[in-house]
Amino acid sequence: MCGIVGFVGREECADILVNALRRLEYRGYDSAGIAVFEGDRIRTVKAKGKIKPEKGDDEHSGLLYRLETEGKPHGTCGIGHTRWATHGEPSDVNSHPIGNERVSIVHNGIIENYREIKKFLISKGYGFESETDTETVAKLLDYYYEGDPLTAIAKVLGKIEGAYALGIIFRDHKNVIYAARKECPLIVGKGEHANYIASDVTAILEHTREYYLLEHSEIAEITADKISFYDINLNPVEKELQTATWDIEAAEKGGYEHFMLKEIHEQPEAVKRTVSPRIKDSMPDFEECGLTDEKINGYDRIYIVGCGSAMHAGMVAKYVIEDMARVPVTVDIASEFRYRRPLVTDKDLVIIISQSGETADTLAALRLSNNIGADTLAIVNVVGSTIARDAKMVMYTNAGPEISVCSTKAYAVQIAFMYLLAFRIAYAKQGITEEKCRELTSELLGISDRISECIEEKAQYQYVASKIMNADSLLYIGRGLDYAMSMEGSLKLKEISYIHSESYAAGELKHGTISLITEDMPVIAVATQQELFEKMQSNIKEVKARGAKVVLVTRKGIVYDEDSVDYKVVLPAVSDVLMPMVTIVPLQMIAYYTAVQRGTNVDKPRNLAKSVTTE
Ligand code: G6P
Repeated sequence: MCGIVGFVGREECADILVNALRRLEYRGYDSAGIAVFEGDRIRTVKAKGKIKPEKGDDEHSGLLYRLETEGKPHGTCGIGHTRWATHGEPSDVNSHPIGNERVSIVHNGIIENYREIKKFLISKGYGFESETDTETVAKLLDYYYEGDPLTAIAKVLGKIEGAYALGIIFRDHKNVIYAARKECPLIVGKGEHANYIASDVTAILEHTREYYLLEHSEIAEITADKISFYDINLNPVEKELQTATWDIEAAEKGGYEHFMLKEIHEQPEAVKRTVSPRIKDSMPDFEECGLTDEKINGYDRIYIVGCGSAMHAGMVAKYVIEDMARVPVTVDIASEFRYRRPLVTDKDLVIIISQSGETADTLAALRLSNNIGADTLAIVNVVGSTIARDAKMVMYTNAGPEISVCSTKAYAVQIAFMYLLAFRIAYAKQGITEEKCRELTSELLGISDRISECIEEKAQYQYVASKIMNADSLLYIGRGLDYAMSMEGSLKLKEISYIHSESYAAGELKHGTISLITEDMPVIAVATQQELFEKMQSNIKEVKARGAKVVLVTRKGIVYDEDSVDYKVVLPAVSDVLMPMVTIVPLQMIAYYTAVQRGTNVDKPRNLAKSVTTE
């Protein structure tokens, strides 16, 4: 969702700010703007729409066009923002930076008590131009400001409720940026005679890899040569400098047409990077982060909580853990879990899966589980993210930065990680022998080559895509692990191609959904599990008999009835339990090529945000 950047240094900053904003585009946004100290004033340029118009957009729209027509602000310090509308539609006036001639701010998050604050400010004579909650913060800063920014900010932080990351500049304090946050991410980057703020490190990687993590309710005061931190009572705070392990190439397209395609290609390496460090003496090993066999044996139940693809990764894990370890696993959508008084106890393990580590509902589910006293384990991609820091145990997936909104490699490493975890849990609970555990672990370690083989088969995915691209609606069906994969396949397709699609447990079709089947509704049947194949074959025949065009995704060695299938994708054979590691590739690539052929915005699908930091 919203992205924040800020720069203070010796160089002209308008381009630096815009380039940094472009690196945050993947978070999702619908307007953008910058505010720069120019002469003795703050000059703001902002606009509804994309920074640079994309296919189908008005070419005379967006921030770059506005900068061209109005002229770039000249100055060496400024703040910038990409806004994903919450309070008030996407419009020029609702775009950030927001403020008045004395103070200007950029904000990510939601101020829950903004109505109260607005009423108070109106009673003090303030007027409001935008529909945003953000404007109340800007005006409240103005109200409290009597010459000392830190005092005004501390007072405001004491009054506002909700989640926020803020970048703030005061006209009277030229070339100083102030920053504060609660719940929403914000980092302070340290360069050579230049410092930065950013929602995440990818925005500033081309300038520096060194940064500080701003903690909740801390305030940063940043000039070109100095960064100071304070707590809410304005006592100085010492912080440790962090170094990003990601490099700039990882956050660039590197010759691929889209980030999504690049990230699909990165999966074999990413899986290796995630799996290898967790294997010791050929066994999965999590002792380093505190998950011992003794602990595992003490758990009554396991809950897995996440949103979107992360939740789908949990579905794969549920099938594997329950089957092998014989321990009950509940998979929950975080936004449901947090409000349904879950029956979690202090004898349970709650596994939280999140790429960004910042998803608002997932974070709330984690905190709820912590409060109940359950053991919590976060499987997170972004190092130092809020979920990573709040969980009792944390393990990182090593996918590197994922820029495409549509998750691919982050999901692949999540399921790879969950396999390792499942094997260890099953071994600890004596569901599988040590020998079996070693055998599965070794197969998982070598699976990257099979994933690469699948990625090479582009022509068949393009062909399938050409056959489904004109459909209005599509159905994915599967059983067991293949049902879990259908869920992810269907999500990929709908989010980037805008074709309506649903996933269904194949056996459930007859209880209603089969009435939808006509020759206009293709069915993608995911059938890679030998044990369940006979049942799947019957379901495939049922839809075929009702006119559906059937795309079969299966594996080598499974014998199917050619007459019941229109198009097929045959994957390399790996153990049935590990098939999701390869099945994911055609599902991602069929969605990708369908979207490309329909001409949609693959990396930045409409209305979606990569990092969902509000409920
Ligand atoms: C958004 C993204 C999805 C992602 C979900 C959960 O909806 O578009 O790709 O799966 O959030 O995000 P997380 O960062 O918690 O994994």
